[in-house]
Amino acid sequence: MRIGILTAGGDCPGLNAAIRGIGKTAILQYGMEVYGISSGFLGLINNEYVRLDEATLSGILTVGGTILGTSREKPFNKNELPNPNEVNKPKLIKKHYDEMGFDCLVCAGGNGTQKTAALLSESGMNVIGIPKTIDNDVWGTDITFGFDSAVNIATEAIDRLHTTANSHKRIMVIEVMGHNAGWIALYSGIAGGGDVILIPEIEYDEKIICDYLVQRAYKKKNSSIVVIAEGIRVDSKKKRAGTYIAKMINEKTGIETRETILGYVQRGGSPSPMDRVLATQYGAYAAELIAQKKFGVMVAMKNNKITDVSLNDVGGKTRTVDPEHSLILQARSMETCFGDGK
Ligand code: F6P
Repeated sequence: MRIGILTAGGDCPGLNAAIRGIGKTAILQYGMEVYGISSGFLGLINNEYVRLDEATLSGILTVGGTILGTSREKPFNKNELPNPNEVNKPKLIKKHYDEMGFDCLVCAGGNGTQKTAALLSESGMNVIGIPKTIDNDVWGTDITFGFDSAVNIATEAIDRLHTTANSHKRIMVIEVMGHNAGWIALYSGIAGGGDVILIPEIEYDEKIICDYLVQRAYKKKNSSIVVIAEGIRVDSKKKRAGTYIAKMINEKTGIETRETILGYVQRGGSPSPMDRVLATQYGAYAAELIAQKKFGVMVAMKNNKITDVSLNDVGGKTRTVDPEHSLILQARSMETCFGDGK
């Protein structure tokens, strides 16, 4: 069998571990031919591939990013205005897939990538998805690889903010990534001992946050840490959430407040051991599915068991944080503030 692997959407630590897991299992267990497709779905449109073998797969387990490159190309998206020389991208992809003689296409990506994978599957291609993103917001799986590495990076940053906040008796606000979900903020906020954690899934009230922080000051707490997800609602869209919240707290409480927008470091560097294991497991399982000719599915983790779910059930859906999540309930019992006064 001949398979093509692509990595699409935002990059993250663990992608190369997944590529290695698929490739080594496919080559060594099943004698398959493995190709890497450049820059996500763009590589299928532009016919850009590299042959992967044991040599190219060696030494990439611990390397961040993706050796194949990625893009946010969405081949099924239509331009608003009909463009006379617009190519039919899905048709071109199917043509190149057939010309390459692929028996299967493996797509590592987030919810947008899985939506494209589901549409390509519907158009008659053999497709398998692997859930990847630091946001951990892919429907149908309990966890995506990339998430643990991002939580490690964000937690280390919060640990560092504690010392400078204490030295200056300041409130430090840190904005973490996560797109429209609050998973990174929730986990790194708990791991880093955040006093206030704001996530898009819980509506916050500015007065409640400020009253809570002022109460901490009265209790002679030296400093406070506020962890916020980039996707929270902010009244003034002109600023980043972290900048807006820090300015609001500073003005309303009179306590010196500074912000850190953590940004792309959360997507960089070598994968955590957990992500190396998870990505390897997902990759190897995808190769097994190909050997079984089980297509049209996404690899998933459900209740600590690796399984697969239909691409049609997951494509394009976002898995957000349940406000009744056990971590939130436990944190509330320790008086962590989620901005809603509960
Ligand atoms: O999906 C991963 C992610 O890092 C999100 O957390 C973030 O909002 C987005 O990508 C940033 O997109 P881009 O890499 O296109 O700037």
